[in-house]
Amino acid sequence: MIAPSILSADFARLGAEIEAVAGNDLDPRARADWVHVDVMDAHFVPNLTIGLPVVRSLLEVTDVPLDCHLMIEDPERWAPGYAEAGAYNVTVHAEAAKDPVRIAKDLHAAGARAGLSIKPGTPLDDVVDVLRHYDTLLVMSVEPGFGGQEFVPEALDKVRTARRLVDTGHLDVLVEIDGGINDETIERAAEAGVDCFVAGSAVYGADDPARAVAALRARAAR
Ligand code: DX5
Ligand code: ZN
Repeated sequence: MIAPSILSADFARLGAEIEAVAGNDLDPRARADWVHVDVMDAHFVPNLTIGLPVVRSLLEVTDVPLDCHLMIEDPERWAPGYAEAGAYNVTVHAEAAKDPVRIAKDLHAAGARAGLSIKPGTPLDDVVDVLRHYDTLLVMSVEPGFGGQEFVPEALDKVRTARRLVDTGHLDVLVEIDGGINDETIERAAEAGVDCFVAGSAVYGADDPARAVAALRARAAR
């Protein structure tokens, strides 16, 4: 699965930017599976992006499943609102969550998939016990906060371990990767066992974002 991140899109024309990778007229190989929405609060990460009002507006203009990545403090308080609004997958950070099991239950009760993310410095061990409550594990392959950063190769070991854990434990959890994904790193991530690839600058920095999605998909399948 390919999930373009609108962090690298033109914020003045988000509806059109989503349409460019999710339009119904696109070849299915060029069409995004999810669109990734990076929510930052200038506290959990040193950057500020968009929040629930913008997500609500986006949900009105697109049918593509929105994958909301909440890089925010106090996810217990804020995450359920995104699910209630209609986001398809809502991911919170393990480093910010005080009660990750409750968050997953609240997200499910509101009708969304629940995702749990770990920063490059956070060991997988920190989330192993709660993973079965979640539907998505988002492994960060850059320090969260900004697009266009270089891929952290150590994330691949974490993906391999996560892949094994999910497969041997028969967990119904998608392994997603986010940060520095391009035509080259996506092959390594695919080989390590990633199911869903977030790509910001590699998609929206390209002349033709839909073609970039198709190219990434082809690379991941090699
Ligand atoms: C970073 C965000 C990513 C970002 C990825 O904090 O979570 O989703 O948009 O951008 P690229 O693909 O450019 O690294
Ligand atoms: Zn993200």
